[in-house]
Amino acid sequence: MTVLGIETSCDETSAAVVRDGRLLSNATVVQLFHSQHGGVVPELASRAHLKLIVPIVEEAMKQSSIDKSGLDAVSAVYGPGLIGSILVGLSFGKALAMGLGIPFIGVNHMEAHIFSNLIEDPKPSFPFVNLTVSGGHTQLVLVKDFFEYEVLGETIDDAAGEAFDKVAKMLGVGYPGGPLVDKLASKGNPKAVNFPRPYLSADSMQFSFSGLKTSVLYYLRKVGFDKTANGHEQFVADVCASFQAAVVDVLIEKLLSAAAKYKVKDIVLSGGVSANSELRRRLGAEANIHHLKLFMPKMEYCTDNGAMVAMTGYERLRRGLVSDLELTAEPNLQLR
Ligand code: KG4
Ligand code: ZN
Repeated sequence: MTVLGIETSCDETSAAVVRDGRLLSNATVVQLFHSQHGGVVPELASRAHLKLIVPIVEEAMKQSSIDKSGLDAVSAVYGPGLIGSILVGLSFGKALAMGLGIPFIGVNHMEAHIFSNLIEDPKPSFPFVNLTVSGGHTQLVLVKDFFEYEVLGETIDDAAGEAFDKVAKMLGVGYPGGPLVDKLASKGNPKAVNFPRPYLSADSMQFSFSGLKTSVLYYLRKVGFDKTANGHEQFVADVCASFQAAVVDVLIEKLLSAAAKYKVKDIVLSGGVSANSELRRRLGAEANIHHLKLFMPKMEYCTDNGAMVAMTGYERLRRGLVSDLELTAEPNLQLR
């Protein structure tokens, strides 16, 4: 069975092909021009998807050495994400499936992130706890089996990646903030500033990063930080490291306590922030201490990609879980 997967929910245009559970190709273009605007501009993102969708799908087909007539289904993300962007991949996917006379499969973006750890071996065993940390979401999920989810907690305000991007903006280090803060933090002292750890209550599985972000803002105001001035490289590195340490502490604590509460042995990280080097390093060490098996996506499957969509589509197709062509974009789609 061969499935094409399309992902256009934010600022990556990506397509991939999976055959019989094996990834054959994954072609992605990251729309880097958004950095000029200090963040993703939704209208520009959807226009860029329109230009890129045909060449990216063609590239994914070419890399896989499979002709479109060899496809058994087309899958695409239908939410959550930016509505104009989702509509490009979704409409294209539905039209292609209709033209080829094969099933169409709508994929939940959050479900696809969970599948980013089911692309290659070794794979986690059910049940496992998955923490998806991305630009738009922070979500802790108990994954009981294929397509059986229990959402344990989510962010009540900013997502982890969003906090990284906003702090980067305050420090004037550029966009996207996550990878830049990560790099600068490696040269900084994580104990330089004691930013608050928003654990909420002791047993809460909810997240909140807005207060932490505001603490960084107040701290910068208090010390009179001017992002246009020169010579504050070490200061910026120290703030990045201290902020990152606070986020990482919270993410690890909640993931470990969920694993303990639900008595699972496999813990899984996904989403753009799972590319963070400090989070990967510290979580690796904690998993060893607690005798847990940790799964983290390869770098190219951390941020949005077609591979995770194609793999979700493949597993859905195997179970006959196909969608109606009337399926529409749902920018606030929940994981059920
Ligand atoms: O999953 P993703 O590609 O898109 C959404 O679904 O939102 O995640 C993008 C987010 C951005 O906020 C970006 O700053 C963050 O992931 N990110 C990182 C790193 N690489 C990407 N955050 C921290 N450290 C990184 N190395
Ligand atoms: Zn994503």
